[in-house]
Amino acid sequence: MINKQFTLAGRPVGRPIEDSDFEYKESEIGEPNENEVLLENLVIEFQPAQKGWMEQISNYVAPLEIGDVMRCGGIARVLESKSKKFKKGDIVSGQTCWQTHPILDATELEKVDDESMATKYLGALGSTGLTAYFGVTKISKPKPGDTVVITGAAGGVGSVAGQIFKIAGCKVIGIAGGKEKCDMLIDEFGFDGAVDYKSEDINEALKKLCPEGANVLYDNVGGRILNDCLNHIAMNARVAICGIISRHKTDNSNFGPENYANLIFKRAKMEGFIVIDFMSESGDARKKLKKWISEGKINCKEDMQEGFENAPKTLRRLFESKNKGKQLLKIAD
Ligand SMILES: NC(=O)c1ccc[n+]([C@@H]2O[C@H](COP(=O)([O-])OP(=O)(O)OC[C@H]3O[C@@H](n4cnc5c(N)ncnc54)[C@H](OP(=O)(O)O)[C@@H]3O)[C@@H](O)[C@H]2O)c1
Repeated sequence: MINKQFTLAGRPVGRPIEDSDFEYKESEIGEPNENEVLLENLVIEFQPAQKGWMEQISNYVAPLEIGDVMRCGGIARVLESKSKKFKKGDIVSGQTCWQTHPILDATELEKVDDESMATKYLGALGSTGLTAYFGVTKISKPKPGDTVVITGAAGGVGSVAGQIFKIAGCKVIGIAGGKEKCDMLIDEFGFDGAVDYKSEDINEALKKLCPEGANVLYDNVGGRILNDCLNHIAMNARVAICGIISRHKTDNSNFGPENYANLIFKRAKMEGFIVIDFMSESGDARKKLKKWISEGKINCKEDMQEGFENAPKTLRRLFESKNKGKQLLKIAD
């Protein structure tokens, strides 16, 4: 048996990701040592932060070096175990990375008890859902009757965040690219309104959809869209800064919102956050998310592509606005 891997070969700073940013490698699978398990990677997850890790723009996770196997979360089957924690056939979740047969320390893995929910551990029950949960409960602090505007609303984080705001009794307006995604926000996720930033004037649309202004702005995008949304915040608004995906082509990470003065006029608060800071509370958060999913209150939309060789192409889908919901890639059955 061979292990197939993609390692980091280039840093896509100020430009889109290219195939040449990865090197494809094959090697013989070794033997797991004491407390290690040999896995067959089944499904891996994708998130915009991976481009930031490739560029090394942040310091909240260990740097990704040239030659490292590309980092990501995954669901895998145990093929061989040298740990008492797992037996052959168990399904586990962890940082399995872009490879078909990882050997990992058992302490880095969690058993997936409910296999029918397995892929949800990469989306709504994984860091994506937790980001939405903590961004809503800890940063946005919604009250029933609040009006919420979410950017990047049809993605993994945005779609779950919007549904949690609905559970909290808010009116939710999502901003996404294209009519199909905007229809999806209303028909599949129960949002109250949607704005297509590709064909509509955001200022005009928000004037109509939230004439009293937004009490919460949950921003996944930054740049021009954040700037336009800041024109429409209500008095004492909370602005949760979750992500800056609009910077991916140009590295305009220093692009500041011109309308930030509205934070003063509206006595508003803008706060950035990173999900890992709340991990000590992830157990309770997961219980709540699981309950909402089983009650049908959260629709966890998954965008499943296939084939390990398509990993680079699948990552690019996020930056080409192609994914609908959480982006996943199936590697094996
Ligand atoms: N703070 C944290 O701890 C934390 C943790 C996880 C994720 N995040 C952030 O949360 C955000 C959402 O992550 P996700 O995993 O849910 O990704 P995602 O939304 O599933 O995928 C990316 C989506 O972003 C939109 N997009 C891409 N380029 C854009 C641009 N130039 N302008 C506007 N929209 C653009 C596209 O949707 P459209 O079709 O609508 O353009 C695309 O489908 C990201 O910024 C990510 O970095 C933060």
